[in-house]
Amino acid sequence: MSDFPKHFVWGTATAAYQIEGAVQQDGRGVSVWDLFTHTPGKIKDGSNGDRACDHYHRFPEDIRLMKELGVNAYRFSISWPRIQPEGKGRVNPKGIAFYDRLLDGLLEQHIDPYATLFHWDLPQALEDQGGWMNRDTAYRFAEYAHLLADAFQDRIKSWITLNEPFVVLTLGYALGQHAPGKAYGLQAMPVAHHQMLGHGLAVQAIRDISQSPIGITHSLAPAIPATDRDEDIQAATLMDEFHNGLFLDPLLRGQYPKSLVALMGEQAESFIRTEDLSVMSAPIDFLGVNYYAPDHVRANSKAPLGLEMVPMPDRPKTGFGWPIVPEGLTQLLLDLKERYAEKLPPIHITENGCSYPDLPDAAGKIDDSKRIEYLELHLEALLKALDKGVDVRGYFCWSLLDNFEWAEGYTQRFGLVHVDFETLKRTPKASYHWLQQFLRGK
Ligand code: GCO
Repeated sequence: MSDFPKHFVWGTATAAYQIEGAVQQDGRGVSVWDLFTHTPGKIKDGSNGDRACDHYHRFPEDIRLMKELGVNAYRFSISWPRIQPEGKGRVNPKGIAFYDRLLDGLLEQHIDPYATLFHWDLPQALEDQGGWMNRDTAYRFAEYAHLLADAFQDRIKSWITLNEPFVVLTLGYALGQHAPGKAYGLQAMPVAHHQMLGHGLAVQAIRDISQSPIGITHSLAPAIPATDRDEDIQAATLMDEFHNGLFLDPLLRGQYPKSLVALMGEQAESFIRTEDLSVMSAPIDFLGVNYYAPDHVRANSKAPLGLEMVPMPDRPKTGFGWPIVPEGLTQLLLDLKERYAEKLPPIHITENGCSYPDLPDAAGKIDDSKRIEYLELHLEALLKALDKGVDVRGYFCWSLLDNFEWAEGYTQRFGLVHVDFETLKRTPKASYHWLQQFLRGK
């Protein structure tokens, strides 16, 4: 092949809490991230998403930036508390109206909307009832999905139910480093199950109304043992099952990895019901894969799961300190093809990108040559997987704009477009112009 297919989807990705701002405007309810970011000590630079990129008001400019970039798709997320302030029941008409305007603007420019329904900003009112630890939240999520399908129908060209339930489980409920800041450790496992149950119920709810393709986005990574010692190889196998299998096996096989059921022990009976797995494994139209870097794993008997992630000393790093391992993307995709075979739906790379401390030079230019190199290497790695028969249909660069990077606040810049968070001025970086040129050839 050695080039991307003709109708390949090219997009950029963002998320509501990271870019919208206007958190107390036009009837939006409180999200777990509002409470978390306003809790001292939780965010590295003490910042929050109250204003972020003010995309809520500036989205027409951001759509223009996408149009000029030359992408044909945009992955964004819908803020659940902007739609249902209490996470259930009453709908906020101004929330619906905002996304109506956003969808109209995208469709006018022939940019296909890919909407993520949950990108971590759970309504606080649901968290007050236990959040994803509470099975009821799965049913609330399906109701929310149904009302979105009713409101927007097929103007949403692809539905993505959840973004990275693994990160919600680990950082949100096991370690407490993300909202809602719970540190339940391995007792947090119901969070994985209830999110995936909510996914399955939402697929049914959307299919009731919309004919558009439906998928889910997972953060996935190949697990690489730090040494060839048996204990490190076993630790990498367990990390692979915990990071990837815990979510892909119920989704694509309708069952959990046996090792994890054993790990969950008798608590599994307390939240897994027999009928759940068939709901979770409802056929989907695509799998969204977010890839940044592999998991580099070493055994550590004192750590949870008896393993720990360790740096990759021989690899260059991004500004975030993440190792740059493009071949990890090829490996991940080949592993998925081999493991799930005919059960593996078409794939979209729904996030890939890197953070660097990009600042304008004296002339106001931002020469982010390292981001250009990162993107080139990962697109080459993606093409290798396509050449080996992996059915990848699209690629979304994370991110269109510098934005609020969760617990890192505004200290990490992932954007193709620089944002001055004082003035909110947008400045396309060199990588934006590089991608614009690259897409001209597609
Ligand atoms: C994620 C989230 C994004 C992040 C991006 C960089 O994958 O963690 O979807 O919201 O901002 O990945 O960390």
